[in-house]
Amino acid sequence: MIRKICCIGAGYVGTPTMAVIALKCPNIKITVVDSNRSRIDAWNSSNTNDFPVKEPGLDDIIKVVRNKNLFFSSDTEKHIDESEMIFLAVNTPTKKEGKGKGFAADLTNIDQCAKQIAIVSSSNKIIVEKSTLPVRTAERLKEIINKHKQDDVSFEIISNPEFLAEGTAIRDLFKSDRVLIGSDQTDEGLAAMESLVNIYKNWIPRERIIKTNIWSSELSKLASNAMLAQRISSINSLSALTEKTEAKINELSVAVGKDHRIGDKFLNVSPGFGGSCFKKDILNLVYICRQYGLEEVAEYWYQVVKINDYQRKRIFNIINSSLVELKNKRISILGWSFKKDTNDTRESSSIPISSDLIINGASLKIYDPLADKKQIIQDLTTYLESKNLDLKEIKSLLNQVKINNTLSECLSNSNAIIVLTEWDEFKQIDWQNFKLNIVDAVLPHIFDTRNILDIELLKSLEYKVFQIGNGDSNIK
Ligand code: NAD
Ligand code: UGA
Repeated sequence: MIRKICCIGAGYVGTPTMAVIALKCPNIKITVVDSNRSRIDAWNSSNTNDFPVKEPGLDDIIKVVRNKNLFFSSDTEKHIDESEMIFLAVNTPTKKEGKGKGFAADLTNIDQCAKQIAIVSSSNKIIVEKSTLPVRTAERLKEIINKHKQDDVSFEIISNPEFLAEGTAIRDLFKSDRVLIGSDQTDEGLAAMESLVNIYKNWIPRERIIKTNIWSSELSKLASNAMLAQRISSINSLSALTEKTEAKINELSVAVGKDHRIGDKFLNVSPGFGGSCFKKDILNLVYICRQYGLEEVAEYWYQVVKINDYQRKRIFNIINSSLVELKNKRISILGWSFKKDTNDTRESSSIPISSDLIINGASLKIYDPLADKKQIIQDLTTYLESKNLDLKEIKSLLNQVKINNTLSECLSNSNAIIVLTEWDEFKQIDWQNFKLNIVDAVLPHIFDTRNILDIELLKSLEYKVFQIGNGDSNIK
């Protein structure tokens, strides 16, 4: 019976998953540790507004379990050594340099954790791979651990990838479609797997707990993300065709999705998928396929990312040509996070689209209900740096950007309004009233890249509107 857990990584996965385990298993003491001390301090703050991850329902759980059986600490070594089970929930971004640069997963954080665990552990441990990892990472971890561990201490490594989506993390954790656990098929491996099953079975029905060998588990995570992203790229690619043929992508999504063999989920057209994982996980899959000499398979999956980039560029081009000249145009950007109900902005399509707009001379007003202002500027800076612009140029481009505190401030006095995130607040905009308050009588062009606005109403109010994949748009 597991009594003490340590989770390394207090981010979007580590904290919500541990908070839910703590809630459902009051007899287990869980400590979440992180090398980023300010993150730990923020999770220990008495003000929930300081929490680094905004996730519906999370604050309420933390209020109940924190300092009862859920703790946040910077004393990593102590909590590793005290625990029987250690979850690795550290970030595994795409490598920026070295072999596999731009594709392979950077496993530096994972390697460091393995080494640290091996060095500080004076008793046996089960290590749980919660981070998304390339298939056969457990093998690599074993090597690192065996090199550094004390002779009389043994370790079992099991894989338990996380499938939660941001914005619905708590709901997903309460009612997971499945919990996947992979282990070595040895007595020790299977026993380690059972100890994790015993934790999940406190709230997950037994039939939803899938047990596999460790490699299937590691690879299933990459495959799941690749297949979800593939559906989005499929629908986004078809949106270009529906625009040309006066079909409507939303109608197509419904018609296609009604086939129960296809299903209706993940067929929402968008400015391209964002988030920290889809792109990095597919690039990692591409890299792994190439490593095994599977060039055609690699190319097949790479296309999912290429279509995503294409969709972003396509949207920029439509905005650019409809406004004729971007120089000195004032543009309102509605939404910065990569989807609604999260403050996470990683890989958001708002970043490349907005950057291209300022590079081409437009001035932006940006509004997002949750994204941090400093983060928005950081996102733009990082993206512009990646385009090899120097600091002086970046500074001057950032002078074209203003971040608004309210939606109404952001909407006013613009030549164009672009909806980039599907926040509910944007569905409530009173366009009739808004029109009455326009001073110079020139209506802004509206670009709805999430298809959440009422296009017929907007057209009846004489707005020029573009919706992705909608043949009825009066901006083509
Ligand atoms: P994150 O960046 O929000 O959090 C990771 C945390 O790990 C950071 O706070 C970082 O400081 C910490 N960390 C890194 N190396 C460390 C070390 N050596 N010691 C201690 N702390 C360390 O990342 P995330 O979004 O929570 O993702 C974590 C993993 O989970 C990734 O592999 C990701 O692919 C996977 N995943 C993410 C999601 C998601 O929705 N974000 C969903 C499923 C799976
Ligand atoms: C995704 C997966 O859904 C999770 O199962 C997985 O655990 C997670 O990645 C991960 O490994 O990190 P997440 O990125 O949080 O979760 O959010 P999604 O809801 O999948 O959305 C990702 C992006 O796709 C968003 O930009 C969203 O707007 C976009 N999207 C989603 C579409 O464009 N169309 C859709 O129909 C659905």
